[in-house]
Amino acid sequence: MADIFTLTNKTTGDSIDLNLREATAGPAALEISALYKEKGILAFDPGFVSTASCESAITYIDGDHGILRYRGYPIEQLAEKSNFLEVAYLLIHGELPSTEELSAFEEIIVHHTMIKETMRNLFDGFHYNAHPMSVMIGVVGSLSSFYHDSLDIHDPRHREISAHRMIAKMPTIAAACYKHSASEPIMYPQNNLDYCGNFLHMMFSTPCEPYVPDQIAIDALNLLFILHADHEQNASTSTVRLAGSSGANPFACIASGIASLWGPAHGGANEAVLTMLEEIGDVSNIDKYIARAKDKNDPFRLMGFGHRVYRNFDPRATIIRKMCHEVLDKLADGNNPMFELALKLEEVALKDEYFIQRKLYPNVDFYSGIIYRALNIPTDMFTVMFAIARTVGWVAHWSEMIADPQQRISRPRQLYTGARERNYVPIDKR
Ligand code: ACO
Repeated sequence: MADIFTLTNKTTGDSIDLNLREATAGPAALEISALYKEKGILAFDPGFVSTASCESAITYIDGDHGILRYRGYPIEQLAEKSNFLEVAYLLIHGELPSTEELSAFEEIIVHHTMIKETMRNLFDGFHYNAHPMSVMIGVVGSLSSFYHDSLDIHDPRHREISAHRMIAKMPTIAAACYKHSASEPIMYPQNNLDYCGNFLHMMFSTPCEPYVPDQIAIDALNLLFILHADHEQNASTSTVRLAGSSGANPFACIASGIASLWGPAHGGANEAVLTMLEEIGDVSNIDKYIARAKDKNDPFRLMGFGHRVYRNFDPRATIIRKMCHEVLDKLADGNNPMFELALKLEEVALKDEYFIQRKLYPNVDFYSGIIYRALNIPTDMFTVMFAIARTVGWVAHWSEMIADPQQRISRPRQLYTGARERNYVPIDKR
């Protein structure tokens, strides 16, 4: 039998019993839906610090112990042994695929990588120096105007087709965003390449020269995409769920997720970290920037540090830091002043009382940009890279939500603090 909490108004003695729902792992949640219906009271939790917005069986995070699991599998094991498309299958279907299931899934994704020719023309409508994220939001949102045949969200087969289309086309769209900004021809995908190799081909090849993607780069991308694939109810995933709860089509919902991801407090942080490291420039300036990060009158924050859920090392940051050593050893003979600077900055911050007290540790984005830079991915493409990977998580969460028979429109309420009722005053009397 579930625990029951009694909430009592100490002034009137009025009370209500609330059930505690147990989780399979992590904190239990108090069911408060009856609170408004029975007592006319709302729960107030800005930033959703103590709010479970839904039930989900996809990803588990234990922020105090630095644990992250997809469908029960520790991120460290997936990072070491799996690849991005296998992880995508796992997140969407709930189980690791058999050999046949995986090759069927890869075959489907590989054969949906093209975008319509008319969609390619869309890119010309964007200004030459548009940020690739702004282009991506527009182009992904437009997918719903090209694929009317898979928009019945109540049909599981339509949902599956839309999911495959988004996962398959996202690298093509992302690379086209870059090619547009570089004034280079948009490249067609090559279906003989794997997911990450194909993306590198579309990013870096031109029609006039042969291009063979580097295996080190392919492996690094695979790992980064696995680590970025999902992270339970983060801001962009919650945005996708909220947009989808009204019955909006999946392409529009994913476009809203990309918009949310763009902010520097979320996925935009990987770009912001590189900009910050460039600004710091040299280890001799670290103390000055640490002092600025601690100064409440200065808006500067140490980008790539801190996380709403992790009050310990972000396990993804630990994996990426290790990968930085390996990738940079191979690609830059271990010589990367930016990485040296980041390591020193981390060391200084982790010894500083301000960061210790607030449990601020490096998050996934502290090191990811350094690897992207080593792979020659331009800084303004970093958040686009994140969006390619996170599309899998968004799709998994959207599908889980739509398939839930209890699904209702998400409609938060508010604690109104505006003016009480007052009468309209004619303009000449104000
Ligand atoms: N630099 C300096 N101080 C910080 C930082 C930081 N990066 N992060 C948090 N703090 C301080 C806050 O000022 C606050 O101090 P106070 O208690 O004295 O007021 C305290 O630590 C708690 O921070 P909050 O902002 O309340 O924490 P919240 O959970 O709301 O924010 C967030 C988390 C947005 C990630 C924040 O840590 C931040 O802005 N970090 C930098 C941006 C970043 O790296 N974002 C990527 C997150 S990972 C991802 O989305 C993929």
